[in-house]
Amino acid sequence: MTNDVNTHRRHLLLGGAALLGSGLLPLPVFAAEPVKVGLIIPMSGPFASTGRQIEAAVKLYQQINGDTVAGRKVEIILKDDGGVAPDVTKRLAQELVSRDHVQVLAGFGLTPLAFAAAPIATQSKTPMIVMAAATSVIPQRSPFIVRTGFTLAQVTAPLADWAAKNKIKSAVTFVSDYGPGIDAEKVFVKRFTEGGGKILESLRVPLRNPDYAPFLQRVKDAKPEALFVFVPSGEGAAVMKQFTERGLAAAGIRLICTGDVLDDDLLPSIGLAANGVISSHHYSAAHTSQENKAYVDAFSKANKGMRPNFHSVGAYDGMHLLYEALKKTDGNSDGEKLIEAMKGLVWTSARGPVTIDPVTRDIVQNVYIRKAEMRNGEMYNIEFDKVEKFKDPGV
Ligand code: PHB
Repeated sequence: MTNDVNTHRRHLLLGGAALLGSGLLPLPVFAAEPVKVGLIIPMSGPFASTGRQIEAAVKLYQQINGDTVAGRKVEIILKDDGGVAPDVTKRLAQELVSRDHVQVLAGFGLTPLAFAAAPIATQSKTPMIVMAAATSVIPQRSPFIVRTGFTLAQVTAPLADWAAKNKIKSAVTFVSDYGPGIDAEKVFVKRFTEGGGKILESLRVPLRNPDYAPFLQRVKDAKPEALFVFVPSGEGAAVMKQFTERGLAAAGIRLICTGDVLDDDLLPSIGLAANGVISSHHYSAAHTSQENKAYVDAFSKANKGMRPNFHSVGAYDGMHLLYEALKKTDGNSDGEKLIEAMKGLVWTSARGPVTIDPVTRDIVQNVYIRKAEMRNGEMYNIEFDKVEKFKDPGV
């Protein structure tokens, strides 16, 4: 499929010019065809907060930057995939490409859903902007995938190094039993062990309808100095609550985690249970830059005081990537041209400086070490250290 839309556009222009010459049509007659973006996200089900954050960010981007770039209107077609069924995501991607003729696919709240859509992107040569799903291998599933979120390996490695350096000697790992959790476990075990730490046990908890209690009891019995946790955003509150209720904190076990567990959407409701917890991530709503202050204010104003989380930033930057690529191609939305234009782009995000690695199509960014603290009566992840321009280290 080469540039159908632009060919179509040229025909319209030529046809229009002929009609104009004949004096039959009033001006203006021909706008360029819109660039259609199929945005597939969970707006319902257990991961609906991811969809809500992504939709809000995409809307905000267009509110601030307009809905037209390089002469093309950017039209978003939103589809709710419910967040749990890969075959649903795949069907939606297929329909968006073949029936709605979208030129770009975007969103993808969880790894299995991104995996399911990847073959559609490849077959139809449609750029697929992965805004949320975070297993390292995702961009290798299609040459048309580009990622604007993060990877679990990328945010876990600096935390494992921090733990080893800060004299934590023993740990248990506790992760959701699927792609990103397994990546987080492997990277934590490798880096923490290399740094001199000892892993006492590695626990994998089910992604669907998890009952954390028996796993936390095993952690308590193993008596590690620290418990490393990854669960996908939306699940953190349940883990934090049970960690305290089951007496692990009281037993002197220290919880450390990726920022998914203390995500900004949930953190106000987790409240004091998070106090003092060390985590690592690429974004905190408390990040102290002008760009982030402006982002948090605008997001909050547009969404009844809602706090943006890392998924919103992945989505906002995904829109930025598309707009900048369309500027580079002069409005040409051919899939191969757009993907080429996305490679190597550099910008300042609300999270800090970011680049799309031209070889891997994955995002390179700062990873911050943070401590959860009360600020103005609300819990925030306060950044106190960082690893700069960190690439996905893989697993
Ligand atoms: C994923 O499924 O890749 C995923 C989802 C939510 C997260 C992290 C990873 O917070």
